[in-house]
Amino acid sequence: MRIKCVIAAGGLGTRLQGFRDNDKTKVLLEVNSMPMINQQINQLKQWGVEEFVIVTSPNFDSLIREVTSQAFPDLTINYTIQDNPKGISHAFSKAEQYICTGDTVIFVLGDNFFEENLTKEVDFNKFSNEGGCIIFTKKVTNPNEFGVATVDNLGNVMNIEEKPAKPKSNLAVVGLYIFDSLAMSKIKKLSPSSRGEYEITDLINMYINEKKCTNVEFDGWWVDAGTPDRIIELENLLP
Ligand code: G1P
Repeated sequence: MRIKCVIAAGGLGTRLQGFRDNDKTKVLLEVNSMPMINQQINQLKQWGVEEFVIVTSPNFDSLIREVTSQAFPDLTINYTIQDNPKGISHAFSKAEQYICTGDTVIFVLGDNFFEENLTKEVDFNKFSNEGGCIIFTKKVTNPNEFGVATVDNLGNVMNIEEKPAKPKSNLAVVGLYIFDSLAMSKIKKLSPSSRGEYEITDLINMYINEKKCTNVEFDGWWVDAGTPDRIIELENLLP
């Protein structure tokens, strides 16, 4: 069984342009004096991940390669470019050449940080045999800003909606997911949403329709570091 981690690092971070003279891309912004992408790799390295695929954007690919390969010479890191920002599932699909049949894939959004190892209770051997997908959720007071899940009492996910105006629950789906390698072929069947993006929630809904999506709810802190306020919040929370 092989676990590979795909990091979505192509986002432009428009809400962070100009913050601390930032003229680059979100994941190169310094968080406690370390580029965010390196903080992200550190987080996952502490969870035991050793193989990475980083999805970059055309303008920052070489800079992202430089900062990450210099900081982590001991890790296997592959790189792939998302040529157009067409959504999170689209970014994920760019890792296809590095995902082999039977791999287990942790997919993380570069700006999502967590207090604890979310995967610590996941039985990866069982997952590798059974396949499917696992989402991670946290109760929040502003679910309309995120993907929102409805879950039955066995932990099976019944439905997930992207930023619904009237959320059916208060369980926000955070930006870290576990998929089997079939995700790569499933993405090819997706159509763009009304906002023109290949949504991660639509990929997850394909697994839900096959009754192959389970939920892990957690309590520790979670920061989606997409705005100046949240970067500062993250800096105070990181050890
Ligand atoms: C994305 C996902 C959303 C998820 C969120 C977590 O939204 O589309 O489902 O809840 O990340 O950070 P974004 O923050 O890119 O708008």
